[in-house]
Amino acid sequence: MTHAQDPNDALFDHARALIPGGVNSPVRAFRAVGGTPAFITRGQGAYLWDADGRRLIDYVGSWGPMILGHGHPAVLEAVHRAVDQGMSFGAPTERESELAEEIVRHMPAIEMLRLVSSGTEAGMSAIRLARGATGRSKIVKFNGCYHGHADALLVKAGSGLATFGHATSAGVPEVVVQDTLVLEYNDVAQLEEAFALHGAQIACVIMEPIAGNMNFVRASIPFMRAARELCTKHGALLIIDEVMTGFRVALGGAQSLYAKEIAGFAPDLTMLGKVVGGGMPLAAFGGRREVMEQLAPLGPVYQAGTLSGNPVATACGLATLREVAQPDFHARLAERTRALIAGLARAAADEGVALCGDSEGGMMGYFLLPELPGNYTEVLQSDGARFNRLFHGLLERGVYTAPALYEAGFVSSAHSAGDIEETVAAARAVFRQLASA
Ligand SMILES: Cc1ncc(COP(=O)(O)O)c(C=O)c1O
Repeated sequence: MTHAQDPNDALFDHARALIPGGVNSPVRAFRAVGGTPAFITRGQGAYLWDADGRRLIDYVGSWGPMILGHGHPAVLEAVHRAVDQGMSFGAPTERESELAEEIVRHMPAIEMLRLVSSGTEAGMSAIRLARGATGRSKIVKFNGCYHGHADALLVKAGSGLATFGHATSAGVPEVVVQDTLVLEYNDVAQLEEAFALHGAQIACVIMEPIAGNMNFVRASIPFMRAARELCTKHGALLIIDEVMTGFRVALGGAQSLYAKEIAGFAPDLTMLGKVVGGGMPLAAFGGRREVMEQLAPLGPVYQAGTLSGNPVATACGLATLREVAQPDFHARLAERTRALIAGLARAAADEGVALCGDSEGGMMGYFLLPELPGNYTEVLQSDGARFNRLFHGLLERGVYTAPALYEAGFVSSAHSAGDIEETVAAARAVFRQLASA
């Protein structure tokens, strides 16, 4: 007997014949959680629809950009208008400066910036710039932080602080990662020791201020302060990767939150992506003027891009930023996100499931752990099998969350109180099953 295939399964089979793993970015393949990925046919507001015709409440938001939900009218109008004027010119347009001005207005540490097309490009370019500006080669990153897939960043810690990293991907020669030092997040003593050993050779420290690639882990205030002070003392640049947090956790990004706690706090360079492009391929890096002026054509550090500052992408980003800059936008978004985390925590407690969560603005994370983890080693203590059951239980009930334990979640301004209630009710039913298993 033959069975008619579900549309999602049929589409996945077709894609797998043509595209490695059936996906154009690995986490979409559901390898961590098992099963067939939902093939999305359309999005509107807080919802996605998949090829099986299911409506899903979307907490992935294209992995962060969709802070206004899908199909926001002001964004659509700006994009339609831009498309009518032309798709790409490879020449400067006024809108690039308008977008740059909007970014600089909200992030005073950025005096100049350059637009690129992905967070990976922003990270790769920021590191090259830091190396060029300092004349040094070593970089410091933290275990569990992701800054894109540039070769020098696909690395795991070596043994001890004297040895540098090992490549985590085939195709990355060891020589390319031998200048990358990988340290534990939130470990001040280790960072101090690394600077004591290598300070004069370190070009930059790169970090996620709230690490969304280990679900949701905040840099502690002492850790952020130490990173800033050590970089300043040793002449290294501090690169804050706000690809995920920029315009998402606050209008001024995570750096504005740290600046409230640490007098005079500012990164030397900032990476932006996701929300800044509103769902189009657009990202940026920027910072202190004298550092940015090291870039070609002014300076000796080369960096370029055919589609950089694309007119349709800049229209989308600009319309999105103008919406998120409305009074109280982030306060309302934060309240809704907190309501979700509080609802999940209450439902889990009622059902006897250990769960803790945290959020900032429209970014959130929850763990099937009794306490919030502070670094990647602690995140790894989560029970992956239980997480996968939670993920699939939610998906079966129409709630779409990231298909991997190590990913942050995102709430948009389109999520209503009713959506949050529906989500918590779905989660409660899954928690009950988890508790009785
Ligand atoms: C913090 C952070 N930096 C950089 C990147 C890379 O961005 P992209 O996927 O646009 O290359 C990501 C992507 O998820 C990210 O979360």
